[in-house]
Amino acid sequence: MRLLSTEASADAEGPVTEASERFDPFAPGYVLDPYPQLADLRQAEPVFFSPAIGSWVVTRFETVKAILRDTSRYSAMIASDPLTPLCPHARGIITSSDFDVPPLLVNNDPPSHPRYRAFFGAPLQRERLQALQPFIKQTVEEHVARMAAGPSPADLVQALTWDVPALVLFRLLGVPAEDVSKVKQWASSRVVMTWGRPTEGEQVQLAGEAVEYYRYAIQLVQRKAAAPQDDYLSDLVRLRDGDDGKATLHEIGAIAFNLLFAGHETTSSAAANLFKAVLPRRELWNAICAGTQPLAPVVEEGLRFDPPVQAWRRQAKEAVTLDGVQLPAGARILMVFAAANRDPAQFPAPDDFLPGRRNVMQHVTFGTGAHFCLGAPLARLEVEAMLESVARHLPGLELVPGQDYPYTPNTSFRALRKLMVAW
Ligand code: HEM
Repeated sequence: MRLLSTEASADAEGPVTEASERFDPFAPGYVLDPYPQLADLRQAEPVFFSPAIGSWVVTRFETVKAILRDTSRYSAMIASDPLTPLCPHARGIITSSDFDVPPLLVNNDPPSHPRYRAFFGAPLQRERLQALQPFIKQTVEEHVARMAAGPSPADLVQALTWDVPALVLFRLLGVPAEDVSKVKQWASSRVVMTWGRPTEGEQVQLAGEAVEYYRYAIQLVQRKAAAPQDDYLSDLVRLRDGDDGKATLHEIGAIAFNLLFAGHETTSSAAANLFKAVLPRRELWNAICAGTQPLAPVVEEGLRFDPPVQAWRRQAKEAVTLDGVQLPAGARILMVFAAANRDPAQFPAPDDFLPGRRNVMQHVTFGTGAHFCLGAPLARLEVEAMLESVARHLPGLELVPGQDYPYTPNTSFRALRKLMVAW
């Protein structure tokens, strides 16, 4: 039951340095804008231990990339363990239920990871994405047209970026569209339970929701097995062809559970973060609206500039030395993608938003190596479709000045909950 194994990170130890005392990913100032502090930390102490999260924090691009590429010395098994160990009551809710999510992809290692990746990745390839394209365009178009016909100002997250990735993912998985708000709520809860700092009372509620969400995913796959349709989960059922050696129905259920989170929460944030970056840069926005600025480089630079996945975890299988700092075997590591993507050694003028920068594709927003995100092509398609449609319908769009930018405090997901715009 890996998702909730919660071998505590709270008792992990390491040297206390100036950086470890300064770094608090839950501090309101950091949540609002982590980049200035990350730049200081990357320069002063690129690797340090954080007692606040019981992990070693790594900020340089080359070091993050080296860890991502090295599956022999770094394990991905802790990737989705709760950062804050669950209290006994919350744990009890999970352990006394049927909840059981085996490690398959994002929190798995060789030798089984490559086999699962080949099986679960195969039906996510080109044909299925091509088949989804008209649906993506139509869904985006409907949302933008509805927003444009409504009152200004409006919340772009609520009107567009929150729902569209979920609707697309639901079409991909073959889930009824009316379940969007329920699944969005579960996905948001999962961010807090796994990467946040919930109180014990909150943990109890989140644990109950996790069990509900898990059952929903398992039942969904059971329905597909009984009556396969034209969707990704049915493809998996067909590929499996009754052979548990390829994948069990329970494992397909676990994939559904994980994709019902990974496949939209991230893309919603990528789109919101991109609009927040692009709209104040009027010259760039006007060029986008005039059709003189190609969109793909804007999307890619947005992914580098303000990544929806800010940080991701690995565990050292043996003692390692990173940027001259020794980490013991078993050390939990937080690779800060947000810092790596703005490392000036890799991306000159890292705080400037420069579509078309030469090496932008090297950002680590989707990871790199063995676990590189299987949904990256889909996410890029969706974000570009949203940018294109908004630019066409609402070229006068602007951020409402003086607004608050509410983010959910957590170590890993930069999830903007509201973005007020006017036209
Ligand atoms: C902008 C949107 C997205 C971002 C930033 C993102 C980011 C990531 C990251 C950082 C990882 C882990 C990489 C590692 O551990 O090295 C990952 C893995 C994964 N993502 Fe995404 N993701 C996005 C969208 C999606 C979508 C739309 C899907 C599915 C439709 C998806 C499915 C997956 C899967 C299945 C994995 C596990 C791959 C493996 O471990 O082999 N992601 N993603």
